[in-house]
Amino acid sequence: MEKINVNGIQLAYERRGKGTPLVLLHGFPLDHQVWDEIVPLLEGTFDLIIPDLRGFGESTTVDSFYTLEDYASDIAGLLDHLGIQKAAIAGHSMGGYIALAFVRLFPERVSGLGLVASQVVADTDERKQGRYKSAAEVAEHGIGSVVEMMTPKFTPDERLQSYARQSMERQQPAAYIGALKAMAERVDSTPLLSSLNFPVVIVHGDADALVPIDRAREVKTALPQAHLVEISGAGHMPMMEDKEKTAEALRQLA
Ligand code: MLT
Repeated sequence: MEKINVNGIQLAYERRGKGTPLVLLHGFPLDHQVWDEIVPLLEGTFDLIIPDLRGFGESTTVDSFYTLEDYASDIAGLLDHLGIQKAAIAGHSMGGYIALAFVRLFPERVSGLGLVASQVVADTDERKQGRYKSAAEVAEHGIGSVVEMMTPKFTPDERLQSYARQSMERQQPAAYIGALKAMAERVDSTPLLSSLNFPVVIVHGDADALVPIDRAREVKTALPQAHLVEISGAGHMPMMEDKEKTAEALRQLA
């Protein structure tokens, strides 16, 4: 992978295809490879920029506390490095939270937004406490219990469960801890919706056990012009569980 220095970290990324710039942000606790199977369906339409978020995959991170806005600022630095002023940005789950933070910080740099198995609301107090508990658990005992808890929730599909497990197992504890705290502290992006003046695409599996489909339907209600694609039977990994439908939806961002 190519690497750049930005915000005190080394950020690794892949670039594939030609066309409208589209940044693809992976979710927690995975890396850019989660997009590998869908890339061939998108690279004829888009100039794909596919980073490993700070701490994940081949990207490094810092020890201090950071926010989703810091991840978004890393992406702005990457676009600066590539000489890209404006891009569409699509994120899977936590990647969607970061895409929303990017929109909040750099609205003039966004030509379209994709939320894949994601949501716009902040954590409930209970969920937030759970994240801090998980972060403390990872710091003390490693990533094992988070991997065990999340694996069956990713997808009912056994091949993809095994993919998710392997991907989670290769990530560093520091990446888990930083991301869990950043997600816990994220703000509600609902107020942002009314200001969006570019295409918004939402892709969600109706069997998602990590982010329920209702979160996607609520965004569609608040933003009727958004293009919502519900994928029947898919869990939390629609870009792998039904890559054709997910790619077709994301092509609306071209
Ligand atoms: C993800 O897939 O990125 C996470 O499950 C999102 C979350 O925990 O809110």
